[in-house]
Amino acid sequence: MNQQLRAAGIAGVGYYVPERILTNRDLEQMVDTSEEWIVSRTGIRERHIADPKQTTSDLCVNAARAALRHARTSVEEVQLIIVATVTPDFPFPATSCLVQERLGARAAAFDLEAGCSGFTYALVMACQCVSAGAFDTVLVIGADILSRIVNWKDRRTCVLFGDGAGAVVVKPVAQGKGLLGFDLGSDGSGADLLKIQAGGSHTPATFETIEEEQHFLCMNGNEVFRFAVKIMGESAERALRQAGLTPQEVDCFIPHQANTRIIEAAAKRLNVPWTKVFVNVDRYGNTSAASIPIALAEAQQQGLVQDGSTVVCVGFGAGLTWGSCVLRW
Ligand SMILES: CC(C)(COP(=O)(O)OP(=O)(O)OC[C@H]1O[C@@H](n2cnc3c(N)ncnc32)[C@H](O)[C@@H]1OP(=O)(O)O)[C@@H](O)C(=O)NCCC(=O)NCCS
Repeated sequence: MNQQLRAAGIAGVGYYVPERILTNRDLEQMVDTSEEWIVSRTGIRERHIADPKQTTSDLCVNAARAALRHARTSVEEVQLIIVATVTPDFPFPATSCLVQERLGARAAAFDLEAGCSGFTYALVMACQCVSAGAFDTVLVIGADILSRIVNWKDRRTCVLFGDGAGAVVVKPVAQGKGLLGFDLGSDGSGADLLKIQAGGSHTPATFETIEEEQHFLCMNGNEVFRFAVKIMGESAERALRQAGLTPQEVDCFIPHQANTRIIEAAAKRLNVPWTKVFVNVDRYGNTSAASIPIALAEAQQQGLVQDGSTVVCVGFGAGLTWGSCVLRW
């Protein structure tokens, strides 16, 4: 193994969202809500919902193929696959192993669970692996089908989420490029704020847990909102400090797409002008671990992220967890 640290970063990005679109008007027919409430409180207008036959690994494979194409990398080169998800195809085996088989890769594979921060965690891990020389090519995928764990009778949560997958290929890059700084953290004292109560070793699934709807996602929205606004600014500042940069030097700020009001508050706190903040939550809702890589891929397609751009990604989510990465493209 090469003991020299080398620069590592993103060589290609790709994403996939299911075809079916669920609008706020559609939701008005399902729960007691309104287009006006959803848009004014969250900024979300529509979200993509997976076909009943689609699984998280299906979404992963589509996003991975797009990222490999963009990185001009063959599947034979992939040595490690990390899938960040909270909605794996099965409790086990890992979804990453299903993706490995479907892609026809000869690679190590594991899943990483850090809620909506999962992609930032996985990206940092992949970059460290490549920097250390342990692997040359790592496929990082953030994917979730939250529509399968959302309670479609609960208007407080079902309007917020959507399905999708985003992927990046991590490789050695020129010195001065790639991952320049990061900040990862957790606070398990907030574990109850966003969780699925039943189905794990704590409360195995029973008829009663199903009857009591404990297999659905439940959330204290107000507390998560407060946490998110505070942590996004703090975490991005720490990552930027590690990179030796200021918020003014950021070309594109890619926040976790949960809620426009959270994004606005975080941008304000960091003093990043709105023109540098990438937002697509209006079209996808909160796609959990997929949100940042989908946004990265769209920002790149739209020319907002170019060769030499300084990009900051910031995520937060269940755990509680948070993660920021500073990247030079
Ligand atoms: C969920 C969230 C949008 C709620 O927005 P809010 O402005 O705080 O709204 P509140 O929770 O105070 O609810 C205000 C009212 O709207 C109602 N309401 C909740 N959901 C509603 C919906 N979909 N449609 C209409 N009314 C709704 C509430 O019942 C409440 O009514 P009440 O005052 O009669 O009790 C907001 O707290 C949020 O975005 N939190 C963070 C969630 C998040 O990002 N989670 C993912 C983390 S990865």
